[in-house]
Amino acid sequence: MTIESPALTIVLNHPAAESYADLIGVRFPHVRALVATDADRLERYIGEADALLAFHFPVEVFDKAKKLRWFQCTGAGVDSMFPIRDRAGHIKVTNARGIHADIIADYVMVGVTMLHWDFPRLLREQAGRKWHPRYLAPLADKTLGVIGLGSIGATIARRAKSAGMTVVGSKRDTSVPVEGVDRLFASDALADLLPLCDFVVLALPATQDTVRLIGPSEIARIRPGAFLINIARGNVVVEDALIKALQTGAIAGAMLDVFEREPLPEDSPLWDMPNVIATPHMAGSPTNYTERVFSIFADNIERFLNGKPLKNVVDLARGY
Ligand code: GLV
Repeated sequence: MTIESPALTIVLNHPAAESYADLIGVRFPHVRALVATDADRLERYIGEADALLAFHFPVEVFDKAKKLRWFQCTGAGVDSMFPIRDRAGHIKVTNARGIHADIIADYVMVGVTMLHWDFPRLLREQAGRKWHPRYLAPLADKTLGVIGLGSIGATIARRAKSAGMTVVGSKRDTSVPVEGVDRLFASDALADLLPLCDFVVLALPATQDTVRLIGPSEIARIRPGAFLINIARGNVVVEDALIKALQTGAIAGAMLDVFEREPLPEDSPLWDMPNVIATPHMAGSPTNYTERVFSIFADNIERFLNGKPLKNVVDLARGY
């Protein structure tokens, strides 16, 4: 259907673009939704976009997006905008924060349990019909550290606390306590926090301050018996240094949902290391993802049309 003088033109550059277009069509008949799942259509339509919906901002067409005033990201992290950040000040950026925390906290607690019990080994033993019982400390004897206590990190902290764990964490602003966190550290005090942890969970956004934050010297501060869980971004960790630490036993193991390169290259040693659980960037993917994003997006379309402040605005200078 062609809309005469649409109130707003939104380009949908996302695998679920058709579903978003249907949802928009029902709720906002005067909004024009252009499905641009492929590069050709994106090139063709981007010049008409007042707004853009995508997971990764398509920086390659930024110069053609002359009318663009609003980018709704379907995820939490907007690091895809970094290359054009300095030229994108006129674009309001909003994200889908709020829909990932519970499922990511589920993932982290599964990871904590699997790594602590060494489930990969138990499954190998089961496959070999081997009966090797052993003793294990309860999680309540263990300390979990959350680096980054935004809505995702704070939810992880509460879950770990409800499992009886000691919880430490770090964030930029330590002036307000975080529920479930026994000891709060400033983000520049990682060297003090890391040696306390049996589990280090990375839950921070990738920004200019956090890319390659966990390098050889930070890894050296992690206890040899401790585990790393990364649900943030692969580039927050120096992957080579992590691989080396996992190979030499400098740290005990890792559960990784994100990698420096995604999909994880077939020749990455991380695929078949016995102390690594690798998953395909899915920790923050609850069912009905499209509908969940749309509830935020629709509210924002309404606001945009009425000139009201948008929800879930991202501060591009800060990076989240
Ligand atoms: C997923 O990684 C997201 O940023 O939402």
